[in-house]
Amino acid sequence: MPTNTTGNAAGQDGSAVFSTDLDLPDRRRGKVRDTYTLPGAGPGGSDAILMVASDRLSAFDVVLPTPIPGKGRLLTEIAAFWLRMIERSGLGPTHLISTDDRLVPDSALRGRTSRVDLKGRVTVGRRCAVVPVECVVRGYLEGSGWRDYQRTGSVCGVALPPGLRQCERLPEPVFTPATKAEEGHDENIGFDAAVEHAARVFGAARAAGLLETLRARSLAIYRMASEHAAARGIILADTKFEFGLPLDADGRADIDAEPVLIDEALTPDSSRFWEASAYEPGRTQQSFDKQFVREYLEGLVDAGAWDKTDPGPELPGDVVAGTLARYRAARDRLVG
Ligand SMILES: Nc1ncnc2c1ncn2[C@@H]1O[C@H](COP(=O)(O)OP(=O)(O)OP(=O)(O)O)[C@@H](O)[C@H]1O
Ligand SMILES: [Mg+2]
Repeated sequence: MPTNTTGNAAGQDGSAVFSTDLDLPDRRRGKVRDTYTLPGAGPGGSDAILMVASDRLSAFDVVLPTPIPGKGRLLTEIAAFWLRMIERSGLGPTHLISTDDRLVPDSALRGRTSRVDLKGRVTVGRRCAVVPVECVVRGYLEGSGWRDYQRTGSVCGVALPPGLRQCERLPEPVFTPATKAEEGHDENIGFDAAVEHAARVFGAARAAGLLETLRARSLAIYRMASEHAAARGIILADTKFEFGLPLDADGRADIDAEPVLIDEALTPDSSRFWEASAYEPGRTQQSFDKQFVREYLEGLVDAGAWDKTDPGPELPGDVVAGTLARYRAARDRLVG
């Protein structure tokens, strides 16, 4: 059992919300967010999606038993900031309707979850049929991109110049899609494979054009966000977006609609953020994301104490505090 779970006076007071239990339909538990249907809160009285960002932390695709108290609120604030900026910049529609917890009726609150648990953690969005592709953009070479490059000289079928070092800036940002795995690790795929994945849900006639749009849009959002981050001394090394097609009143995907940016965007969970003043290729970077906790966990793996499978280890207090401090710094620097 996780330590420090909600049930005590959790929420704004700094204690943790590990999971939620609302009396609403379609409860689903992602790695970090609990999602529900919020009847009538969408456009024209349609059903909306309610996402509640918990304090769960996943690393290497394993949800750790120790929450990071307040992380869910930081994620919600950061993502909402970016979603609004993306819409204002004319970079396409997003699912964001509101972050107001008052859209969740009192009748949905029961047992373990109280209103204070919801404060600052709620995103109400337009419900979409999810495009089953992670839209990753990389401006720098790290993580699975760096690993693929060392093996093959390319990432997702995009050939890169020889001799690049770890964390080196790429000549141009590249779109490197990945599968959205239900179980286990996402896998980097080429553009054509991404089209095939989308075709399984939206048909071959729509898939190629859809992926072209998602590539262009992902790259445009990455460029805008990198400029904003750079002005605040932060490098946006890479990031991952999810898109969907809006559902009509009967719950069917509107195939011809503009794709909508869904989920979270440009948070330390979905992006690598580096301290620009300390940037130096050829090594790992000082980061405002999960790298800190990943390094702690790699230490356990090297010591033979964990093998990156479920269940994950409890995190010591200093690792929890250090992780939270990095998420806070990201919030302060990017959206403060
Ligand atoms: N507007 C939307 N319409 C439909 N689904 C959405 C929308 N926004 C987000 N989602 C889905 O809600 C979930 C958010 O939960 P979370 O980010 O914790 O999941 P995850 O573990 O990253 O993803 P998953 O469990 O699907 O692999 C994701 O599955 C995401 O695809
Ligand atoms: Mg997610």
